[in-house]
Amino acid sequence: MSIILRKILSQSPQETVQTAVDFAKNLKAGDIILLEGELGAGKTTFVKGLAKGLKAKVSEVNSPTFVLMNIYKGRIPIYHFDLYRLERPQELDSLDLDEFLEGDGVAVIEWPKRLGDNTPANGHWVEFKHKGENTREICISCPLKPQQKSSR
Ligand SMILES: Nc1ncnc2c1ncn2[C@@H]1O[C@H](COP(=O)(O)OP(=O)(O)OP(=O)(O)O)[C@@H](O)[C@H]1O
Ligand SMILES: [Mg+2]
Repeated sequence: MSIILRKILSQSPQETVQTAVDFAKNLKAGDIILLEGELGAGKTTFVKGLAKGLKAKVSEVNSPTFVLMNIYKGRIPIYHFDLYRLERPQELDSLDLDEFLEGDGVAVIEWPKRLGDNTPANGHWVEFKHKGENTREICISCPLKPQQKSSR
């Protein structure tokens, strides 16, 4: 369950990038962002904006198709997952997912539902819908329950 924080009608990739730059201002270590939407919906474009907002190199951002995860160095690390090719959640068993999901940086996941039962419950959902060649509806939700975090 989550509540919708913002709904944006983006008219260009640049507008999607700027939406993410604004969103990135409030991000902190341990935050999880789940990007939902079909192929070409704008998920990776949004990650470019997150990287820009977190002062990482935007040129390094691409969908980590074969390695499942890319790391970008910003004011905090960005762990960028693309799980499109994940066939079973168990394929990630060799990776200590929790280390990245609630660690020292921000975790951003394309195709998060590939995680099945392990889909994080405390993430921000960002949903992209194709509305036209250059138009995308972007819905940003926040978790209903405040994120559980220890203070030390
Ligand atoms: N308003 C818009 N916002 C974002 N992307 C847009 C917009 N208008 C057009 N585009 C184009 O749509 C494409 C979005 O590609 P992107 O790689 O971000 O999608 P994706 O959701 O990550 O896809 P995949 O599931 O294949 O990884 C880009 O070619 C981009 O230029
Ligand atoms: Mg992508």
